[in-house]
Amino acid sequence: MVLQPALLHATFQAIEQYRADFIGSMYQRLFVLYSDVAHFFEYTCMEEQQQKLLMMLAFILENIDNPEQLARPLQRLGQIHVHYGIQRADFDKVGVALIETFAEYLDERWTPEHAAAWTTAYRFITQLMFDEPGSAA
Ligand code: HEM
Repeated sequence: MVLQPALLHATFQAIEQYRADFIGSMYQRLFVLYSDVAHFFEYTCMEEQQQKLLMMLAFILENIDNPEQLARPLQRLGQIHVHYGIQRADFDKVGVALIETFAEYLDERWTPEHAAAWTTAYRFITQLMFDEPGSAA
């Protein structure tokens, strides 16, 4: 699995000034595309959740060159999600919503290379959260 840090950073920087809107749009898209996941967030303060997801994505990108820094925090995060009953299939749904929202915000700057970079990165993050060591390498 080959990560593309430069493309990932460029994408995240491109949404820098719209981050709050971006992440709000991501959840809106998620709930429109996949209403079946909305129940997980029934008691969630979505403003806080949006901040948490953004901070986690920023933390992941900061450490994308040092996966050993990511393993423990992401395993812990994965355990929290498993505790909520969230499954691999649900992760795929968030992945679709996230990547489609990047495509929307980057518009003509979004390329197949960006899409491939995020698809790979998201798979990598998911594998670390589900504690599948060998497969994330
Ligand atoms: C790479 C994918 C994901 C990342 C990086 C991520 C990140 C986070 C973070 C940072 C938190 C806060 C944890 C805490 O408070 O300690 C969280 C909570 C949560 N996440 Fe995720 N998440 C991901 C995927 C998903 C998916 C696929 C779902 C369900 C469809 C989901 C649903 C939730 C829920 C329900 C909470 C708890 C909200 C609450 O406190 O009420 N997440 N997530």
